[in-house]
Amino acid sequence: MSVTNFPGGIGPTPQGTPATGIPTTKITMPALGEMKRQGRAICALTAYDYSSSRLADEAGVDLILVGDSLAMVVLGHENTLAVTVDEMLHHTRAVRRAVRRALVVADMPFGSYHGTVAEGVANAVRFVKEAGAEAVKIEGPRVELVRALCEAEIPVVGHLGLTPQSIHRMGGYRVQGRSADAALTLKADAHALAEAGAGAVVLEGVPRELAAAITAELAIPTIGIGAGPDCDGQILVFHDLVGLTFGPAAKFVRRYGDAGAVIRKAIEDYRDDVERRAFPSDEESYHLPEAARRALDGTKKTGALRKA
Ligand code: KIV
Repeated sequence: MSVTNFPGGIGPTPQGTPATGIPTTKITMPALGEMKRQGRAICALTAYDYSSSRLADEAGVDLILVGDSLAMVVLGHENTLAVTVDEMLHHTRAVRRAVRRALVVADMPFGSYHGTVAEGVANAVRFVKEAGAEAVKIEGPRVELVRALCEAEIPVVGHLGLTPQSIHRMGGYRVQGRSADAALTLKADAHALAEAGAGAVVLEGVPRELAAAITAELAIPTIGIGAGPDCDGQILVFHDLVGLTFGPAAKFVRRYGDAGAVIRKAIEDYRDDVERRAFPSDEESYHLPEAARRALDGTKKTGALRKA
């Protein structure tokens, strides 16, 4: 229980105090566009549960993506393809309960928008209606679907470049848009998504120069991951940022902490204390009031406790 005992308690509209200097104005999709116009960098981060998304929100992150990367970093799958709509909904609900200020974006998982446009819209509606998402993210230049989602009043974040749900088509996680043809196609796709109504576009694993050109040309914000510093915003995977991953990190990851080492040490210390019976202490124990203690001592002597 104490783990989630943040100030303000738990619930859909937590009242915790954000870190000093963090604006409290709710971030919406139009607000992200305004940030681009004002030249203010957008800070985005993935999160998948109550405590981490609450910390991210209170730290002033503008956009929290319940990414399908949870398939890998939370559920231990090899890639993102296996995670289901129901699993994504479950995690989006947890994030929704924690976040007050940031825009909550749910990633549509593989297979949930790859059939008909109507199926894609129906699945997106579930994220808004059942989990409280304020926008959905879809991978690839699915212009018709973006238009239909906007008509259904669902804000959309596009995702171009290295789109992990296309791993089998791409033949691995490879930087995209390196040839002149591929770069021009990617830029045209970004324009098409913006014209269809996308509110922002994630550019993942693309050369810096291409991301810069797209960012300069689009009216909507670009949010980069492995796309260089010229995007309107940046996004990282929570577990990469805090050092909770187990393999080598990608080139674009900057690790801001080593939570893995902190957690490992804490668990080892706990195990040591349990093994040498140093935990819990008397101060960490509840005690009987004097009268009950005396009664208990009495029953011990008479054996009455055993009979009861
Ligand atoms: O699922 C995810 O974490 C993402 C980000 C890398 C953009 O799509």
